[in-house]
Amino acid sequence: MVRKVFDQLRRDFPKLSEVTYINTASLGLPPKCCTDAVMKWLEEREYGNIFWLKWEKIREETKQKIARMINAEEKTIAIVENTSWGLNIIANSLKWKKGDNIILNDLEFPTNIFPWQIQAKKHSLEIRVIRNKNGIIDIRDIREKIDDKTRVIAISWVQFSNGFVSDLTQLAELAHSHDAILVVDGIQGVGAIPIDVRKMDIDVLVCGGHKWLLAFPGAGFMYIKKEILEDLDIKFGGWLSDADPFNFDYREYTPAEGSRRFEIGSPNFAGIYALNASVEYLLRIGVEKIYERNLELTRFLLEKIPSRFKILSPLIDNTPKSSIILLAVKDAKKAYEKLKERKIIVAARKGGLRVSINFYNNEEDIEKLLRNLSEVTE
Ligand SMILES: Cc1ncc(COP(=O)(O)O)c(C=O)c1O
Repeated sequence: MVRKVFDQLRRDFPKLSEVTYINTASLGLPPKCCTDAVMKWLEEREYGNIFWLKWEKIREETKQKIARMINAEEKTIAIVENTSWGLNIIANSLKWKKGDNIILNDLEFPTNIFPWQIQAKKHSLEIRVIRNKNGIIDIRDIREKIDDKTRVIAISWVQFSNGFVSDLTQLAELAHSHDAILVVDGIQGVGAIPIDVRKMDIDVLVCGGHKWLLAFPGAGFMYIKKEILEDLDIKFGGWLSDADPFNFDYREYTPAEGSRRFEIGSPNFAGIYALNASVEYLLRIGVEKIYERNLELTRFLLEKIPSRFKILSPLIDNTPKSSIILLAVKDAKKAYEKLKERKIIVAARKGGLRVSINFYNNEEDIEKLLRNLSEVTE
């Protein structure tokens, strides 16, 4: 897509006129249609429950749109609060056997570590941790650690700190060759990088809505492959996750069909309105075009960055695969604060400065960041 189109899209993010925001990996900017949708919901909410059925319809539409974005069937999608909750759902619902093992790595965000550790303690499981090599999780190391007692490889598609992108197709193949499943934390990729859960044969994909999906905290989604769903233990139940949710009589619980069984009670409709609007917005632009533009801007950053700032993100052949770049900056926290004073927002992570570029950024944002970064670190 020509740059002009992306320049026009900047108008959908009104606060870009006040801040230089290169920090989508922390929280994305919601487009105007997203905040408008939430305002609309608040207005409807003033009528009590009158709009409930409409809200339910929007919930279904949201799932259809998410399904389109990741190439899944609608029934395999559940709206969940956030990535953390989705990961806890799957970790709790697997039928563990003593001595099973789980493969993690040392780059994961804590939310993709703790739920597994809890299960490990409870069911005497082993956690096998892959150590990164210069910011890379090497599939060869996973291959060495995996065996027939491995039940899960749990991994972030894109690493939050340095933007390393794992090859999910290869990981799924490896997991399946040992009858294990691949559980993916997708929050740093979905919405910014094209994904096809069926083609890649991913088993579980969990994603909060507030980063690259440009929606609000408190509403994200979870995809569970059909073949896996029926094998999961029923650990949670509520009125809405029953097959007959509007029957309020005393009776035996029958889990609803598909991933809906994990949506147990009154949903965060405001968050769902936000997610619905933002996902539609992203689909309209096209995730492939977004990815292309994000990589173009990332290459621009890499070209322009003064050599005194070492790039800590692993770049194979100097080619970025995501738009999250970690820079070695002396006293990164101080640099972050000083940039913030100048209304330039990035993040301090793992001792460096993390820049996360999205299509609503432009070359001028990056030049401004680099100019100011040089000044504040002189
Ligand atoms: C890779 C990764 N997973 C999960 C989270 C947090 O997810 P949530 O707040 O949706 O539970 C983050 C937030 O920074 C993250 O970077």
